[in-house]
Amino acid sequence: MLNDKSILITGGTGSFGKAFTKYVLEHYSPKRIVIYSRDEFKQYIMQNEFKEHASKLRFFIGDVRDRERLLRAFKGVDYVVHAAALKQVPACEYNPAEAIKTNVGGAQNVIDAALDSGVKKVVALSTDKAVNPVNLYGGTKLVSDKLFIAANAYAGSQDICFSVVRYGNVAGSRGSVIPLFHDIIQNGGTRLPITDYRMTRFWISLRQGVELVIKAFEEAKGGETFISKIPSFKVTDLAQAMLPGCEMPEVGIREGEKLHEVMVAAEDSMHTYEYDRHFIVYPQIVWDERRRVVPTGRKVPEGFSYSSGKNTEWLSVEDIRKLLETVRFE
Ligand SMILES: NC(=O)c1ccc[n+]([C@@H]2O[C@H](COP(=O)([O-])OP(=O)(O)OC[C@H]3O[C@@H](n4cnc5c(N)ncnc54)[C@H](OP(=O)(O)O)[C@@H]3O)[C@@H](O)[C@H]2O)c1
Repeated sequence: MLNDKSILITGGTGSFGKAFTKYVLEHYSPKRIVIYSRDEFKQYIMQNEFKEHASKLRFFIGDVRDRERLLRAFKGVDYVVHAAALKQVPACEYNPAEAIKTNVGGAQNVIDAALDSGVKKVVALSTDKAVNPVNLYGGTKLVSDKLFIAANAYAGSQDICFSVVRYGNVAGSRGSVIPLFHDIIQNGGTRLPITDYRMTRFWISLRQGVELVIKAFEEAKGGETFISKIPSFKVTDLAQAMLPGCEMPEVGIREGEKLHEVMVAAEDSMHTYEYDRHFIVYPQIVWDERRRVVPTGRKVPEGFSYSSGKNTEWLSVEDIRKLLETVRFE
């Protein structure tokens, strides 16, 4: 599917972008992969990491806030993954206007540039925090999701489709609980703080996130939100897997934090279908009959929500210990 195609990744130097680039180079023979981001140093590091693929890679300095630059970068591009975002909850809380400019304005610019430059498919990355958001980061990502879903309405007869891939905190990613515990242990700590003993999370690897984006490129007709089926774990079990027998003081839930991660809200259950390895939330409005998708999966029961607290698949302390061996700390 991606053979001989030009692919652009906004935020291509980030964790997702690098993993996606590696995966595509290993599994396909793309014409070129364009990395679009702001910081020249991160691009320089990535250029070195991928130097044996130099002939396939292009590095564009650019900001998703800059529509003209996006238009230039999208010339001749077939597939776009929109990964660029401000994503640290406290930073977005403290700098709300900046988060809105990048996560909302940037999303609209990506849509406009894709519509105006002949791109065929766009997949935007979403997060569990966009579901019933309780912080500004989640709020901006919810708006971004809505923009990408509605963008299909502007496509008209153009051969382009926009869809969304949603996943939760990637195991080991910056700002998540695993690196926090890891740092405490590395510094000789023996107590791992738990914000709330009831807290649960989903476990997803970067590779699963990448594979879901590939699936969306293969299958999306426009307006779908793709969500992986993944196991849950209790944060107390994570602490015991990382430091067996450790003390676990309960320190209280932080502002903007949820007890459980939710990937599909109960309110979306009417449009959600279950497949063997994923869920798809279909668009509520079909703007163009030619884009109507007939789901082949099983409709979820009304009121169903896909939450880490109500999952049917759970990781034991031993399962977590094994999975931790595969985690790369950034
Ligand atoms: N990591 C997770 O656990 C997780 C979970 C769920 C969803 N997501 C979503 O997945 C996406 C990718 O996350 P990630 O973990 O790869 O993030 P990351 O490692 O922080 O990378 C973010 C990338 O975006 C670029 N960027 C930031 N602001 C930009 C702007 N204004 N214009 C152009 N590029 C910009 C950054 O490079 P420069 O700073 O050089 O511009 C970097 O390449 C995000 O949309 C995030 O919301 C991530």
